[in-house]
Amino acid sequence: MYADRVLSGMRPTGSLHLGHYHGVLKNWIKLQHEYECLFFVADWHALTTHYDNPLGIEQATWEMVIDWLAAGVDPSKTTLFIQSQVIEHAELHLLLSMMTPLGWLERVPTYKDQQEKLTEKDLSTYGFLGYPLLQSADILIYRANQVPVGEDQVPHIEFSREIARRFNHLYGKELGYEEKAEAAVKKLGGKKAKLYQELRTRYQQEGDDEALESARALLGETQNLSLGDKERLYGYLEGGGKMILTEPQALLTEASKMPGLDGQKMSKSYNNTISMREDPDTVTKKIRTMPTDPARGRRNDPGTPEKCPVWQLHQVYSGDDVRSWVMRGCTSAGIGCLECKQPVIDAVLKELAPIQERARAYTEEPDTVKNIIADGCEKARDLARETMRDVRESMGLHYG
Ligand code: TRP
Ligand code: SF4
Repeated sequence: MYADRVLSGMRPTGSLHLGHYHGVLKNWIKLQHEYECLFFVADWHALTTHYDNPLGIEQATWEMVIDWLAAGVDPSKTTLFIQSQVIEHAELHLLLSMMTPLGWLERVPTYKDQQEKLTEKDLSTYGFLGYPLLQSADILIYRANQVPVGEDQVPHIEFSREIARRFNHLYGKELGYEEKAEAAVKKLGGKKAKLYQELRTRYQQEGDDEALESARALLGETQNLSLGDKERLYGYLEGGGKMILTEPQALLTEASKMPGLDGQKMSKSYNNTISMREDPDTVTKKIRTMPTDPARGRRNDPGTPEKCPVWQLHQVYSGDDVRSWVMRGCTSAGIGCLECKQPVIDAVLKELAPIQERARAYTEEPDTVKNIIADGCEKARDLARETMRDVRESMGLHYG
């Protein structure tokens, strides 16, 4: 507990594009070196909006997993799994639904937004209303404290925090809690016990956040306590009961700066993407035909890079030297647009080559991919079961 555990999920959208690569995957790849990470395919979440046409979801899942692996998500470092294959998520979702006020769900901003946006679908379903709660179950079941997401998902993480807090408040009280907590303090041993009590008092009486942090660090380092005692003492610090579920935090991913071929954000719905597995000829053609500053109708007309989507790609792919070459050449009509695009084409192809090679290898060996996911599901299940044991027990569902 309290060591950082990172969890994130993606709905299965099939083959991914460079927007996903620059916006999400590169970040995951960085995080996998810094934290314990779990990444999963949110296939049930896909069903909340695609319940009328579910047949593509499985294929989309495998394509997406191949792209994760091809991008460099390393299965020896991270746990990769599929949501629906860890059935415990569903149980936690159900149990949480018992204590989730309807109003909380109705007030999540994405609920009305999406309903208004996706007018061609009837989203007045139970499952769609529960979307954020299912997401909470995904997060809370691993006691993940860091959740890398984009800005749009922040309300869902906040919602998850509130659910965790409510849960701990409702079910975190055990019989004889104070006595058990005091006994656990004693087990810390003389010096540590005294320090713990001091820090706890300082936090509770003076609201000293640093004291809280220090006390948590102290517990983090302690090795001679059972998990139950440790949890008790984390909870006791803040005066509450046992902390059964951990409140997660959004680890805000910088908004993807990846522009699409038309200068808008790269997105499937704008039809302006380069997919991670786009073949080199198509990549070349797409960039060669992408629009430029309309003022450069003829080769001799000077242009303004700021008005050109190609310039935005230079921001992602080119160094200072190339960029000043573009700036000079464009504004003086010294270079043509095709000439200007060439370094971008080269850079994209260079970036994609190793990714595509790995993707090819995984595509040729679907069993390897299946095994990676089977292993990941197994690991995820073990973690999920641990939490569920505590959850069931605290809700009075401890049979036998
Ligand atoms: N709702 C997220 C999205 O659309 C996907 C998701 C589902 C998720 N469960 C999650 C993200 C848990 C982070 C943690 O992007
Ligand atoms: Fe755009 Fe480059 Fe053409 Fe200028 S020279 S308009 S930056 S493509």
